[in-house]
Amino acid sequence: MTTIAHISDLHFGCEAPMVREGLLEALHQVNPDLVVISGDVTQQAKHREFQAAHAFLAALPYPHLIVPGNHDLAENNLPERLLFPWKKWRHYISRELEPVKQDEDYVAIGINTARRVSLHPDWSRGSISRLQVARIQRQLRTTPETSLRLLTAHHPFWLPPLFAHRELVKRSQPALQAFQSQVDIILSGHVHLAYAQVTQGVIVSHAGTTLSNRLLLHHTNSFNVIRGDRERLSLELMEWGNQRFRLSSQQVFRRRDDGWHQQH
Ligand SMILES: [Fe+2]
Ligand SMILES: [Fe+2]
Repeated sequence: MTTIAHISDLHFGCEAPMVREGLLEALHQVNPDLVVISGDVTQQAKHREFQAAHAFLAALPYPHLIVPGNHDLAENNLPERLLFPWKKWRHYISRELEPVKQDEDYVAIGINTARRVSLHPDWSRGSISRLQVARIQRQLRTTPETSLRLLTAHHPFWLPPLFAHRELVKRSQPALQAFQSQVDIILSGHVHLAYAQVTQGVIVSHAGTTLSNRLLLHHTNSFNVIRGDRERLSLELMEWGNQRFRLSSQQVFRRRDDGWHQQH
């Protein structure tokens, strides 16, 4: 069985120090095999924010896999955004923008969906290219049939109806079709809303903002814990309240011939 902690949208620069300490305590209880961090690590891609993120990652006593979000690109410095978009990321966070972690039980594949420029008026919108989809398919062709297959990308591949005004990843539909029966679960962030839904046989699971004060109305900080294997997965929502993270709800999913289904 694999245990994954999924945290997201840390937004260093807007983080709550007490929640940061509470997260490290909660992760100690969970003792994950891997911590997945699905982007927006900083608020404005400033040096001091990346330094705080670097210190946090250095204090994490677990393997981690991290991908960038739209906030990890400089918003107000166009030359930096256009010419050296990932210089700070590579310096403070990781040489890689699309890391892969694999052991005998799972493969976790990172996708960078943040773009420095876009034809779309909203540059915070994410995109997945045909080349990225092809790379993931190649990786999965060599993955053992029994290994749990996780993807992580900052931007959403599915949105709840109330949040349909937030944009999906560009090319989300062909990507989901390509991932059908190849990918078990996609972990994302961006919306600052925790939700999980099966779409086209794949579990799409979002973490809320784990550390930042950029909270949706009536929401608190949260992260998710995913436990299981290619046959059964449980997804636990851990929410902040009374100065600690506690289990708030749980969903269970099972895989059949036609893909994943939620158990009710
Ligand atoms: Fe965010
Ligand atoms: Fe975002």
